[in-house]
Amino acid sequence: MCGIVGYIGTKKASPILINGLLRLEYRGYDSAGLSTIEKNGISLMKNIGRVKNLSELPGIDDLEGTIGIAHTRWATHGIPSKENSHPHTDNSKNFSVVHNGIIENYYSLRNKLKDEGYTFYSETDTEVIPNLIHYYYKNLKDEIGINRFLKAVRNACLDLKGSFAIEVICKDFPDNMIVVRKDSPLVIGKADGENYLSSDIPAILSFTRTFYLLNDFEFVVLSRNDAKFYDTDLNPINKELTSIEWDAIGAEKNGYEDYMLKEIHEQVTSTRETVGARFQENQKTCFNELNFTKEYLSSLNRIYIVACGTAMHAGLAGKAIIEKLCRIQTEVDIASEFRYRDPLIDDKTLCIFISQSGETADTIAALKLSKQKGAKTLAISNVIGSSLSRESDLAIYTHAGPEIAVASTKAYTSQIVLLNVLAIYMAEVLENNDINYLNTLKKDILELPEKISQTIEHSECVKDFAKKIYQEKDVFYIGRGIDNAIAKEGSLKLKEISYIHSESYAAGELKHGAIALIEKGVTVIASLTDKDLTKKTISNIQEVITRGAKTLIVTNQDLDLSTFDFSIKIPETNAFISPVLAIIPLQLLAYYISKEKGLDVDKPRNLAKSVTVE
Ligand code: G6P
Repeated sequence: MCGIVGYIGTKKASPILINGLLRLEYRGYDSAGLSTIEKNGISLMKNIGRVKNLSELPGIDDLEGTIGIAHTRWATHGIPSKENSHPHTDNSKNFSVVHNGIIENYYSLRNKLKDEGYTFYSETDTEVIPNLIHYYYKNLKDEIGINRFLKAVRNACLDLKGSFAIEVICKDFPDNMIVVRKDSPLVIGKADGENYLSSDIPAILSFTRTFYLLNDFEFVVLSRNDAKFYDTDLNPINKELTSIEWDAIGAEKNGYEDYMLKEIHEQVTSTRETVGARFQENQKTCFNELNFTKEYLSSLNRIYIVACGTAMHAGLAGKAIIEKLCRIQTEVDIASEFRYRDPLIDDKTLCIFISQSGETADTIAALKLSKQKGAKTLAISNVIGSSLSRESDLAIYTHAGPEIAVASTKAYTSQIVLLNVLAIYMAEVLENNDINYLNTLKKDILELPEKISQTIEHSECVKDFAKKIYQEKDVFYIGRGIDNAIAKEGSLKLKEISYIHSESYAAGELKHGAIALIEKGVTVIASLTDKDLTKKTISNIQEVITRGAKTLIVTNQDLDLSTFDFSIKIPETNAFISPVLAIIPLQLLAYYISKEKGLDVDKPRNLAKSVTVE
């Protein structure tokens, strides 16, 4: 977790750093800080709370330095406090460092450095880094110039176990910054006479569209006009620039009150972007990136879909369509469980990893494990050049555009759409399906944007219902089959941003325990989009109505809705893609309840957008 930014150029660094941090607050927001190189040495400004508190510190506007590093924190080691916030310096205040990640061996390094006479002032793992750099720097007296700084950083990094993206500045080198990453994100934006650094691309997209995407253990020496790259032996390496097509406006709120509301509305276009040009009339589905053969797909013994949070819920929809169309056993796993449960994997296994950010630590670790065990790996990410997609054998992208709100919305619907397109592609390669069925499903997918638009029109009705239930303590979500997957995601959205306890249940499972919790006035929300299961679920809804529950139904079926307290009729579509429509009223419900409670919708407490720690 945590977000880092950096700048080296000709402008005053501090306003640029604050601007970048504000855009990275979704990665953590319990404290923030920055360092610049001033005429009299390294400046250090820190404050607890949001970035705004940092920006209001007396003296911050007086900083003149044109090189600087900054950090917004999501606490792992040590409470949110001024002492624990970044940047951290070495004892002599020669080096200043910001870090995103976790140093797993910090305790032993700290003791080693203490034996060498170093003192520690924070509880963080990060504080070992500047001191370790100083330790090597001091002992590299024979090295001259920037090489001494570079070698000291390299030596220190080789001692670190865990994950890190770090930016280092040194009082002796006011015209350089050194950066490196391992398993934590860091990008370099190149502009004319200046370089910008950030944990993600959108935060600095207003300054440049040209980026260097770093691989693990690539050491970069930045100056105003240049970026020099080195491997761990400090041999120079060539690095290509990547152009990013998104525009900065895409990463702004665009007149919406919150990013989440904007992103809910954007689903009309984001799902269209996800499909892109993959379906062409009278042509097979186009996935040039994959090139699967009938022989390869027929040889698979199973598919795993592995992900965390909302992405895992999208995986449940993926399992349904892949099993239906390809008849290959498909299991969905939570990444943090998968990586430790010794899963049955061999070279006949295809492992699909879904991650909006492509930086989720558990998902990346699960991918590495699958590769070691011989599986072919396929990443589905929203971020081009993310760690996950670069580690994976194959990568495809949702192209949903930047998602800023912590609670995922458009990434989820795009993931489901892409999984359906992928399943159709595989079915075409396998040649085991009725072409008419596949063509109808393609048509249904292409009609989704229009139907999403119609579904969003129910916003006011959802808002009214939100006003009725925003003070509740418990809400239940139920459904069968694909509707159970929708219930899980609906329930997660409510918890994440409204702090109301909610649970999701397979509707038929309620009577095996949870129904004991249903009493007069408890809200039960049911999704009914699979016509083959509708009658069964209605019986379960009747069971909770009998016990006094208040019910909200989201359905695309022609039902007698008079028995339910509230209902939302969404457009009909194929059951496999119905989550894309049915989730929208549930996203809006969570949103409006959160607003009604006066909460920060985009930055819910204790959560972060990108979870780069285990
Ligand atoms: C965090 C976010 C969730 C997200 C999950 C997985 O918990 O708050 O919204 O679903 O991480 O993130 P990923 O980037 O891997 O999809």
